[in-house]
Amino acid sequence: MVDEKAIQAAQEKFGVLLRRQLERVEVLKNEPDWTDYSKLDKLIIGVCGGDGIGPYICASAQKVMEVLLADKIKAGKVEIRQIDGLTIERRVEVMKAIPDDTLAALKECHVILKGPTTTPKKGDPWPNIESANVAMRKELDLFANVRPVSVPELGINWVFYRENTEGSYALGSDGVNVTDDLAMDFCVATTQGTERIIRAGFEHAKKTGVNYVSLVTKANIIKTTDGKFLSIAERVAKDYPEVQWDDWFIDITTAKLIDPARRSNFKVFVLPNLYGDIITDEAAQIQGGVGTAGSANIGKRYAMFEAIHGSAPRMVTEGRAQYADPCSMIKAVAMMMEHIGEIEKAKKLNMALDITTQFEKKLVMTGRDTGATGDEFAQYVLDTMARPDIETVWQNYIDESIAKAKN
Ligand code: IPM
Ligand code: MG
Repeated sequence: MVDEKAIQAAQEKFGVLLRRQLERVEVLKNEPDWTDYSKLDKLIIGVCGGDGIGPYICASAQKVMEVLLADKIKAGKVEIRQIDGLTIERRVEVMKAIPDDTLAALKECHVILKGPTTTPKKGDPWPNIESANVAMRKELDLFANVRPVSVPELGINWVFYRENTEGSYALGSDGVNVTDDLAMDFCVATTQGTERIIRAGFEHAKKTGVNYVSLVTKANIIKTTDGKFLSIAERVAKDYPEVQWDDWFIDITTAKLIDPARRSNFKVFVLPNLYGDIITDEAAQIQGGVGTAGSANIGKRYAMFEAIHGSAPRMVTEGRAQYADPCSMIKAVAMMMEHIGEIEKAKKLNMALDITTQFEKKLVMTGRDTGATGDEFAQYVLDTMARPDIETVWQNYIDESIAKAKN
């Protein structure tokens, strides 16, 4: 016998979800314009350590950030605000993905540097509350998750534009157990949400002159939402005649990222939320591990910069948190500098990161006491940035890498 009551209850719940998403579409239709950081009297940067290794690697990255912005902080043009309350203990205490006071404090900032936060999954000792990450992306409407990956000696220079507020994540905590035997989740794609991420990817390809975008879906199977992603790309691409583009399925794309004959051709990827999540871990691994990759979460009003990995609670329980690699967070600082218009600072920090992590490697992070601590590594990056010959050293490295890539 089909359980009619269960169907009705699920329909009601579905109705609530539909209403919320349609209301969201109305908000999206009236999106604010991009924040112009150059017009602000004072830029407010919130720093939010998170939990697990988060507070450790975030503090190391903050040191680097404060050195870079020292003049502006002194002149009162930049204010750094410490924002607490994003720990798993606190979130569980108030049973919210982001406690209200923390969210209010975040909303008073312009940009945020955020350490990883623990996301409970079914079966964990914590109640199964929504991910703080996903909630922050939705609350602050950080629709573009931008993740660069570069490996000069392999000729790899990729940027991923992952949609960050919709897809399978939008209602990831709102699925329905229709009966004990039937569970259903939902995937969301709106015209407005899809168009803005595709435009962001095409804009980047145009602005940087790489003029090539690869759109990744599984539109042959997930026909409605991924189909929408693809058909909107066809429309948006017409506004960018100089940008060449192609479309790929996610499965073959994961294979092609490790295909030496093809991977260096890719430049800019645009993809829905879940595929972007998965493939950026793969891409980061090719670069040297998830600990090496930073991530920018960009919206028109706010932007948040973070590592691409989780909070590694095991490192804390094993007493190794101080050996966690802060490079992903330092990379996030470089992305923040670029976003707020500090282009030269971003460039220098990226050079220092390349030199310390890929070239010179005077200190190595191993995640335990056989390697450097996060703070020691941050200091190594700062010392490298202060070197007068940094540009020459970096250029030598790039030339050598190009020569290697050709062989
Ligand atoms: C990431 C992470 C997050 C995500 C988690 C921690 C919610 O994996 O930023 O890629 O799935 O988006
Ligand atoms: Mg991920």
